[in-house]
Amino acid sequence: MCGIIGYAGKKPASPLLLEGLRRLEYRGYDSAGMALEEGDHLSTVKTVGKIAVLADTLGRAPMTGTVGVAHTRWATHGIPSHANAHPHLDSEDVIAVVHNGIIENFISLRKWLEGEGIEFRSESDTEVLAHLIRYFFTTTLEDAVQKALREVEGTYGIAVLSSLDPGKIVGARNGSPLVVGVGRGENFIASDVTALLEHTRQVIYLDDREMVVIDSDHVHITNLENVTIERKPEEVLWDVGDVEKGGYGHYMRKEIAEQPRTIRDAYSGRVVEESGMAHLGGLNIPMETLQDLNRVIITACGTSWHAGLIGEYMIEEFSRLPVEVEYASEFRYRNPVVDHNDLVVVISQSGETADTLAAMREAQRHGARAIGICNVVGSTIAREADGGIYTHAGPEIGVASTKAFTSQVTTLTILSLLLGRLRKLSQREGRRIVHALKRLPAQVQSILDSAEQVEAIAKLYYENNNFLYLGRGYNFPVALEGALKLKEISYIHAEGYPAAEMKHGPIALIDKNMPVVFIALKDSAYGKVIGNIQQVVSRGGRIIALATEGDDVIRKFAEHVIYLPATLEPLTPILSVIPLQLLAYFIAVERGCDVDQPRNLAKSVTVE
Ligand code: G6P
Repeated sequence: MCGIIGYAGKKPASPLLLEGLRRLEYRGYDSAGMALEEGDHLSTVKTVGKIAVLADTLGRAPMTGTVGVAHTRWATHGIPSHANAHPHLDSEDVIAVVHNGIIENFISLRKWLEGEGIEFRSESDTEVLAHLIRYFFTTTLEDAVQKALREVEGTYGIAVLSSLDPGKIVGARNGSPLVVGVGRGENFIASDVTALLEHTRQVIYLDDREMVVIDSDHVHITNLENVTIERKPEEVLWDVGDVEKGGYGHYMRKEIAEQPRTIRDAYSGRVVEESGMAHLGGLNIPMETLQDLNRVIITACGTSWHAGLIGEYMIEEFSRLPVEVEYASEFRYRNPVVDHNDLVVVISQSGETADTLAAMREAQRHGARAIGICNVVGSTIAREADGGIYTHAGPEIGVASTKAFTSQVTTLTILSLLLGRLRKLSQREGRRIVHALKRLPAQVQSILDSAEQVEAIAKLYYENNNFLYLGRGYNFPVALEGALKLKEISYIHAEGYPAAEMKHGPIALIDKNMPVVFIALKDSAYGKVIGNIQQVVSRGGRIIALATEGDDVIRKFAEHVIYLPATLEPLTPILSVIPLQLLAYFIAVERGCDVDQPRNLAKSVTVE
C-alpha cells in the first residue's frame, strides 16, 4: 500500500533510494518517483509503471544529490499517472512529500488552499500536504510539518524534503508504518526494514503521531507537540539474504521452498515432547487467566483469516473452548459482543493491515486481551497487542502469502496445544501432537521434492477459466486458501467450498471444463469426501485429488492424484496447502502472469 524511503547521507542518494524502492515494490507498483536536493533546488523524477521504468529513466538522466525521498505507489486517489505519482510538490517546488496512507479531510483542505490562491496539479490527496507544509513554513521544516499535520485527519507515513531547509528529511507517522534506519554518517526513513537491511540493522520504530528529523549524522524524534522522545535503536535479525530471490525465478517460489525451515522456526523452542507441553513466552497472560477464558475470537484478513479458521477447529478440539473467527473488516464495525473474559487472537503477517489493527483496538476497547500472531517484528499490531507470538517466517515478499500461512497455522497449533493442556488435553495427547509437529518439516520437504508432478498438472489445466476447490473439516479452510492463491496470481476464477455444500449450488457448474480439486485425505471425513467425489465424477467433472499415501481407491475416481504423507488430522492443512500453493504458482507461470506482483493487489493493505 505504497512504499516510502528517505536517505540523508554523503553518498549519491539515487541508487540507494532506487534499491530501497525495489525492496518495497511489493507494497505497490503502479507508479514511482524520487526527489533529491541538487544544489539549491529540488529535482524530481516520476514514472508510471514499475520501479524498472523509474530505473530506466534515471539511467538516462542520472541525479546527483545525497539527500532525497522516493515512493512506489498503490493508487487510492486518482489513477496511476505522472501527475498523481509521488513525490508531490508545492507550487514553488521547494517542498517534496512522499506519503503512504490517506488524508481523509483532503477535500476540505484542498478547498481552503485553493481559496488561498493555490493551484493543484494532481487528484492525489497527498498534494495538500506539500501545499500545507509550504503554507506553514516560517523557520524550520520540522516546525512546518508539525503545524501542517495538526490540520490533517487520516493516516500517514510521510517523508518530506525541502530546499528551504536543506540536508535533512522529516518523517512522521499516524496509522501507516515508518521505521528509521540508523547508520554511520547516513540515516534512513522507510516504510519497513526490508528496504534498509543492506545498509543497517539498527532501527527505531516510530509510533503514531511521532515525528523524526534525520540528517547524515543525527536522528531526533519528537511527538507532534515537539516534545523530544528518547528511543534507542533495536537490532533487526533479518538478513539481506532473506530479501533476495536466492536463485529462484520468483520470491513466491523461494518462499514456498523455505517452508520446511520456516515451520521448524515457528515451533522451535516452544514445544517440549516429553511433557507434551507448549511454552509461549510473549503471551503476557497468566496461566490462570488462560484457564478461565470463556471464549476465543480470532480476527484477520485474507490468507491470515484462513489460518484463523484452522485455528478455530484446533482450539475447539484441543481445549473445548468456543471459538469465533471473523473478518476484521466486519468485526470492527458491528459493535461486537466481546469482554474481558474473551481472548482475541489477531493474525497478520505484516502486522499493519488497517482493518485487522482496527479490529484489535476495538476488542481492546471492550476490555478483551488481544494477542497478535505477526510475522513482522516491531509492526504496529505486534507492538499494540497485549501479548503475542511471532511466526519467525522471515520476510515474505511475494504478494500471495505462502510461508507466512504455514507458520501461522504452526503457531496456532502451539497456542491450541497450550490452551488444550491447560484445560482438557492429556500429556499423552500433547506428546502425540508435538511428535507429529516435529515430523512436519521433513514431510513438507518430501512434497516439495515432487513439485514436478504438480507442474505437469498445471501444464494440462492452465487454460481453464474456472476451478473449484473442495475440502471438509480441517481442509475446508485449505480449499479456500487454494482457491485464493489461484485467483490472486493467475486471475482464474476459483471458488473454495466445503465439499458437502457443493450439492447446494456449485454442482450446477460442473462439466468437463470444470477442474475440481478435492482434498480427500484419510481422515474422519474421508468416506464422505469420496461420496462427494463420485457426485462430481458422475457429472463429467475432472478431478485433481490430494490423497494420503497408500490410498489406491481414490485412483478409480480422480484423473490426477497427489499423494501426501500421513499426519495427525489437525496438522494436515500444513501439508495439503503445499501442492495447492505450487499448483497456483505453476499455473500463473504458464499463463505468463506476474507472480510476485499480481495486478491490483498489494501485500500490506494499510487502508480500509
Ligand atoms: C493482503 C495480502 C494477503 C494477506 C492479507 C492480510 O490482501 O495480499 O496475502 O493475506 O492482505 O495481510 P496480513 O499482513 O494482515 O496477514
